[in-house]
Amino acid sequence: MKELATIKQKVDSALERFMDEKVNNSTGFVKECMLKNKEFLLRGGKRLRPILCIKSYESICGAIDEYIVKKSIALEMLHVSTLIHDDIMDNDDLRRGKPSMHKMIGIPNAIIQGNILLSLAYSSLADEEMQLLNNTYLKVNYGQMLDMHYEEQKISEQEYLEMARLKTGELLGTAAELGVLIAKGTIENRQKLRQYAQNIAIGFQLHDDLMDLSKDMKKGNTLGSDIMHGKRTLMVVKALEKGLELPALGKMDATEAEIDESVKILLDNGIIKYCSDKAEEYINSAKKIVSDEFFLELADYMIKRKN
Ligand code: IPE
Ligand code: IPE
Ligand code: MG
Ligand code: MG
Ligand code: MG
Repeated sequence: MKELATIKQKVDSALERFMDEKVNNSTGFVKECMLKNKEFLLRGGKRLRPILCIKSYESICGAIDEYIVKKSIALEMLHVSTLIHDDIMDNDDLRRGKPSMHKMIGIPNAIIQGNILLSLAYSSLADEEMQLLNNTYLKVNYGQMLDMHYEEQKISEQEYLEMARLKTGELLGTAAELGVLIAKGTIENRQKLRQYAQNIAIGFQLHDDLMDLSKDMKKGNTLGSDIMHGKRTLMVVKALEKGLELPALGKMDATEAEIDESVKILLDNGIIKYCSDKAEEYINSAKKIVSDEFFLELADYMIKRKN
């Protein structure tokens, strides 16, 4: 999608300018940490949340301007704040193909860098916008809490979907809603685009879980990280329901052969297909809500992407 790249560039340069100002206004050790934070924020990332916000704004106002680009970066900062904390929780060494924040600076300081990004996210928002983001951050944390709590439990498909809605759907939903809110769109428009975004988000998270076990897709972290950590992805939920044993499940020192064997079991039992069909279902539901070409293509991109 060509338009994704064009808007991503605008978001990247707004983020860079924002962080440069923070770096330049600090000194000593704080400056050193802010530089690390800037590198982490700018090292990659698809910028889906700011892009969704900007396009939602455009769908109401008819044009993209500097104002919305500057507002939209709050979503990326909040997102990256959750990624820094997520990598600590998930004990993941890599993020966006490079060492995760806590691998670079240790867990205590990484917690702080995540907190800093959250407060920077709020710093350029007006009251109502901040309330929307803050309420979302609470929901994301509920989702992350469940994600950890479920690690050693048997959960249902419904419980998985609710966790995904909270940890991933809330922020994508808010990204779309924020664009409409800033554009002074109607409540109906806010709800409509939020609904769309929450649906693509479930497809997105199911695809993210599938990518964790796929060798030809590059997520930028360790292959099989979820299964080794015992994460209750929908694939694992279905395997447990069927009473299947996955040799890599919950085994931090699983070999590549054990991961391959687990993937084979998931494939042979139709579980990979079940989960990718489920992702497609959510994408199709999302596409029924919108008619704009960009939103239709973005929905498809969620489950076609390789990173
Ligand atoms: C990763 O999100 C975290 C999830 C919600 C699955 P993205 O896949 O959007 O990560 P970046 O920002 O592009 O790196
Ligand atoms: C992360 O989900 C969701 C949030 C950061 C809130 P994952 O744990 O699946 O994300 P990745 O796979 O590490 O990017
Ligand atoms: Mg993770
Ligand atoms: Mg996680
Ligand atoms: Mg994941």
